[in-house]
Formats: sequence, C-alpha cells, structure tokens
Amino acid sequence: MDTLVKARALKTAIDLGLLNYIVPRESVSLAALARSIECDQRGTQLLVDLLVAAGVLLVRHEDILLSPEFKAALPYFDLLCTKLALSGLLLADFSENFSALISNPEKFRESASIFSLFEYTSETNIEVSTYLRTRLWVQLTSVLSKYEAAPFLWLYPLDGSTLILDVGGNSGSFASQLCQSCPAQRVSVFDLPLICSLGLNYVLPSPCVDRIRFIAGDIRSDRLPTGFDAHLYKSFLHDWSDQDVRQHLSRSARALPSGGKVIIYERITSQRDIASSPWNFCDIPVLMFERSYRDPAFYLQVLPQLGFVVTAAHVIRLDQDFCLIEATNRSADD
Ligand SMILES: C[S@@+](CC[C@H](N)C(=O)[O-])C[C@H]1O[C@@H](n2cnc3c(N)ncnc32)[C@H](O)[C@@H]1O
Repeated sequence: MDTLVKARALKTAIDLGLLNYIVPRESVSLAALARSIECDQRGTQLLVDLLVAAGVLLVRHEDILLSPEFKAALPYFDLLCTKLALSGLLLADFSENFSALISNPEKFRESASIFSLFEYTSETNIEVSTYLRTRLWVQLTSVLSKYEAAPFLWLYPLDGSTLILDVGGNSGSFASQLCQSCPAQRVSVFDLPLICSLGLNYVLPSPCVDRIRFIAGDIRSDRLPTGFDAHLYKSFLHDWSDQDVRQHLSRSARALPSGGKVIIYERITSQRDIASSPWNFCDIPVLMFERSYRDPAFYLQVLPQLGFVVTAAHVIRLDQDFCLIEATNRSADD
C-alpha cells in the first residue's frame, strides 16, 4: 500500500468485515456487500471504488471480486493487517513529532505517544488499560517475529544448540517457530511476568507447546537462569543503552557455560539506499524507529571485551535490516 488513502481504505475494509465477506466468495453484488457490512450503498460504493484504486478489488459488470494480486497476498494477511495497524498507530507521531525525531530524539521520546504502547512493566498489580495496550503490542510484535524467523533459520539452522533462552522472547512467537523447524530444540522465554502470562495463551495452539517454557523475570534485577546452550537476543537490545547492553551480555557470559553461544538477531541502522527508496505508508515504522537502532559494529566490539569470540556475523536485508551475530563464550574458561 503506497499511499495513506489506499491503506486507510484497506484498513476500513478489514475493520468493517468487507474482506471477510468477499474472501470465501467468487464475487458479490454491491447490495449484498452493503448488507453484510451494515452500511448504505453510497458509502459501500465509495469504499469499493477506493479499493479498486488500491488494487484490492475488481468490478466486472455488476460483480465485485478480489483482484488476482490481492488473492496472491492472502497467505500473508496477518502480516498485512499488522503492518497497517502499526503504521496507523504511528501516524499521529509521524505527523506531529517527526521534526522532533530529526532534530532532538530525546525530546521525541518524551513527546511521542507510541512509547506508551510498550511501557514494559514488571508490576504484578496491573491496570486493565495497561493489560489491553500490552496485549495489542504483543499481538503485533508476535506476527512480525513469526515472519522474521524464516530468514534467521535459513541462515542459521541452530544445529548445535538444543536448549535456548530467548531473552525478552515476548509471546513465544519466535520460540515457537524455532521449535517447529528444529525438533530437538527446547526454548525458554525469559520475560516480564505480564508478558509471560500473555505468552502462555499465545503458544497454546503451537504443535511444539511442550518444548516451550516461560521464565518470568526482570533482567534489571534477576540473574539469567543457567543450564542453557545459547542465549538469544532478538529485537531486544535496541531498547537499551550501550551500558545496559554491556551489562546484559555480561550476565549472559556469567550464566552460559564455556562454549555456550550468544546469538544476537537485532534490527540495525538501515543499510538500504534511503534516498532512492519509495517510502510507502507501511514503511512509517521503519522511519520512526530508524534512529533507535545501532550499527552492528557496536556488538562486534563489545562481545570480545566480555570474553566472547565472534564466530559468525551477517546482515539480513528485510524491510528493516537485521544483524545476525553468533559469539562463543570463553569467559567461563578463566
Ligand atoms: C521489542 S520487544 C521484542 C520481543 C521479541 N524478542 C521479538 O522479537 O518480538 C522487547 C521484549 O523485551 C521484554 N522486556 C523489556 N524489559 C524487560 C526486562 N526488564 N526484563 C525482561 N524482559 C524485558 C519485553 O516485555 C518485550 O517482550
């Protein structure tokens, strides 16, 4: 979806149930469509026309149907909905606070509303509104993680590690993908208590549910548990200061055995050619978070200082670029 208008039309079609109605049918009439979404025909016609302009629908004679291009994208419908939702949530900050993001990122952090969506709390006494906001954020990040697992596994099949601690592993979405692809693997998610309880529900339908565990804790105050071959940091370290990252990784060095691995799979400063990219509506999150990410050189410099030997380093080009770094613990040899 390249423009705000097209994206908004698609989001409205999803919200009103228009797509749910059309997807299982070959074609529908305007009158039936209007009845199904409980709108008058004039409003429905406006939406249909915008969806035709967006390449989602076709109109043949009196029949309304999905375009072949949109049908081909249906297997990724959850990703499409997530990207639309994320860009929509960031839209107000993009329009009101982008100048602050460019000129003063600290001020942006204070004024932007997006950060209230993921105020990570270690409290067990939780307001319903906090629960609902957190649940929404967890749903969105879980879908992104599900799709980010495939390129990771393609490059890094995890043959050598069977017991993995996914630090800040959220709902277990990534853990579930790892377990599905590697039958020997067991993954424990270390995360805040509220996230762990949301995660228990999230992984229940997974065929690998018996190989996923949740360990509730706060990395600021709790030791990382021992007994793992590898610690995975996936889209976690970018939220922390350089000093915090050093501390987290040194906690890993203490908890891992000699030969244990740290695996860093993190978004990094964009390697794409920003000047010649098209910058579609769904790229708003890439723009809004771009300044939060690091150059992977930072991890490559810090890991050896903490007793790790870097054994692999890659850049993965997704909508936002990622680094994939493996480092082996030697600090336990001392
Ligand atoms: C940006 S999300 C990434 C989640 C997941 N790894 C992914 O890739 O989708 C950061 C995660 O770190 C967790 N987290 C934040 N602060 C934490 C803390 N102090 N201790 C443990 N986990 C924390 C959050 O609850 C959240 O699940």
